[in-house]
Amino acid sequence: MIKHIFTLCISFFISCFVASAQLREVIPLVDGWQFAKGAVPLTELSSMDWETVSVPHCWNAHDATSPDYYRGEAVYRCTFPTSKKIRGKRIFIRFEAVSQEAKVYINGTLLGEHQGAFGAFCFEITPYIKKGNNEIVVMASNAHNDDIAPLAGDFTKFGGIYRPVSLLILPHNCITPLDYASSGVYLTPTSVSDTRAVVDVKVKVDATPAASISLRTTVYAPDGNPLAVVTTDDYTDCEQSREYNSNIIIENPQLWDGLNAPHRYRFFCELLQEGRVVDTLSQYTGLRYYTIDAEKGFFLNGKSYPIRGVNRHQDRPGKGWAISNADHDEDMRLIQEIGANGVRLAHYPQSDYIYTLCDRAGMLVWAEIPFIERATDGSKVFADNLKQQLVEMIRQNYNHPSIFCWGLFNELGKGHPEGLVAELNALAHKEDPTRITVAAANNDGRPENTVPDYLAHNTYPGWYWAGPETMGPSIDWKNDGKGVCISEYGAGASVSHHKQGVTSAPKTDGDFHPEEWQATVHEGNYREITKRDFVWGTFVWNMFDFASATRHEGDAPGINDKGLVTYDRKTPKDAFYFYKANWSRHPVVYITSRRHDRRHEAVTDVKVYSNCQNVTLTVNGVSLPLVDSDHNVYIWKNITLLPGENQISVSAVSAGKTYTDRCVWYYENE
Ligand code: GCU
Repeated sequence: MIKHIFTLCISFFISCFVASAQLREVIPLVDGWQFAKGAVPLTELSSMDWETVSVPHCWNAHDATSPDYYRGEAVYRCTFPTSKKIRGKRIFIRFEAVSQEAKVYINGTLLGEHQGAFGAFCFEITPYIKKGNNEIVVMASNAHNDDIAPLAGDFTKFGGIYRPVSLLILPHNCITPLDYASSGVYLTPTSVSDTRAVVDVKVKVDATPAASISLRTTVYAPDGNPLAVVTTDDYTDCEQSREYNSNIIIENPQLWDGLNAPHRYRFFCELLQEGRVVDTLSQYTGLRYYTIDAEKGFFLNGKSYPIRGVNRHQDRPGKGWAISNADHDEDMRLIQEIGANGVRLAHYPQSDYIYTLCDRAGMLVWAEIPFIERATDGSKVFADNLKQQLVEMIRQNYNHPSIFCWGLFNELGKGHPEGLVAELNALAHKEDPTRITVAAANNDGRPENTVPDYLAHNTYPGWYWAGPETMGPSIDWKNDGKGVCISEYGAGASVSHHKQGVTSAPKTDGDFHPEEWQATVHEGNYREITKRDFVWGTFVWNMFDFASATRHEGDAPGINDKGLVTYDRKTPKDAFYFYKANWSRHPVVYITSRRHDRRHEAVTDVKVYSNCQNVTLTVNGVSLPLVDSDHNVYIWKNITLLPGENQISVSAVSAGKTYTDRCVWYYENE
């Protein structure tokens, strides 16, 4: 292959772009789906009790918090007409995810199957399209299956076509959508420094054998200006499936620099056949480098950048996993508001949209496969399924600069999965030579723990055991000479439960989870974390409450309430503001225990989180002497409330402006 690199003639390429803009089309199949629970042979579909739904759809939207939520089979069907615009084109159907098994039929013919709840999959349907209406039928199931990961896990395993489905109308010779349903374009920044970056561009193409096709890639700088173009000419002995490889050098790159400046470059790929543009596709990536120093922690682009992050599940009340882009946006806004610089998207690959939001926001992302608690020991089918889910995750999300690591497992503790973990580790490195592998463990000394590049720890001092301050010795003990990452830590909290002066954990599986204890755990854990530079990453468990059908604790059944924000995203808990006061660049002044508004004890501490100066507390109009803070926590001890209403207010100053917070506590003198 011959490569030409030259600086661009802007107007020429703009005209090409306009001319080629309609070459591929994505038609989301949203409305008019029919859905029925149960299994039925294809020939007896009419016997089902159909309900009209739109997709994304989740059949556990309303029973997800009940221990006997539906785990079984269901059927979807929809029709779409053949239109003129698809004539002469190739048609594919792409599912972003179906939980967790899908058999897809078109006009009565089986197109294919997919196992795994979190990966996209794509089939070509061109040969099966007929005049008039075409019918798609999806037989789905979220029943437990020993062949499919995950086999366990503390979360509801929702079912349904819960991410979008689209028809892709592509030109005959196209960048393939069939390589594990990825974009077909793989951007690998092979070397990145402050002065120079080299990006390998690999494009997989599906074309008529012997058709002479070349690939032109244009790189656009973060400000949208064209920067460079590379043309990869064709080779003669053309196969149907081909790969075009080139590399592009970017001098003085604008780095993807986390929250500081998440710059992205756009790579615009055009397939050219006899000088004509026949297909186009844009992909974004960012240029960054990172290292982990065993003593000094995480460095992004050469600068110390400890990861202070949160975990996130993908469900919502009343929707299950069928969440909208607006829901993702809201989650990201809250994650940004708290000031986190990283997210562990646990415990499975999440939607392309959330990874894109992370790219744009500058969040460092830990992405992982759903290998949780156990394997089906010795089962090749199970192992193959996990490998397939790993390859899907990597290829589908390859270009996201936010993703810095691939997570291989969470809390394995049974059987002998070490051989399988080693295979997964090798596969991850083969698929992606640039990112590290990690895993989250809660069992010390297990053989699989030494396999990933970095082992991280799920640890709950102050909740499942001991006091919050024991996070310190626990971290020291876990240091394996490579530094430490805490992949999970936290405590449960219900915003309707309160207790002043709480000094120990409540019954963790009990029905009283005071909000105050969660905050105390986070303060104590975090104090220990920040004493140690070698802790390169931490991820709070969890940013949001989430459905876990078998739990029955706190103030709501079927919920894991370790979120910093309630399940409905409406109420950030006190602990949310502890982190906001420590992480956010925006002024924070927040009175804790504000929801404990009916009091039965006159004497109370008042605790305020603030990152401002001159933090002043006023109780019933009387200003109290200033107190010192630790990690932006201010405590006024032994304040006496008056019978009846008490006005609590706090003011503080940042950059010359005064910020205030207030609440009312009612003391009932019995
Ligand atoms: C585990 C696990 C999570 C779980 C959490 C908890 O460590 O990885 O999936 O939800 O602990 O107990 O809340």
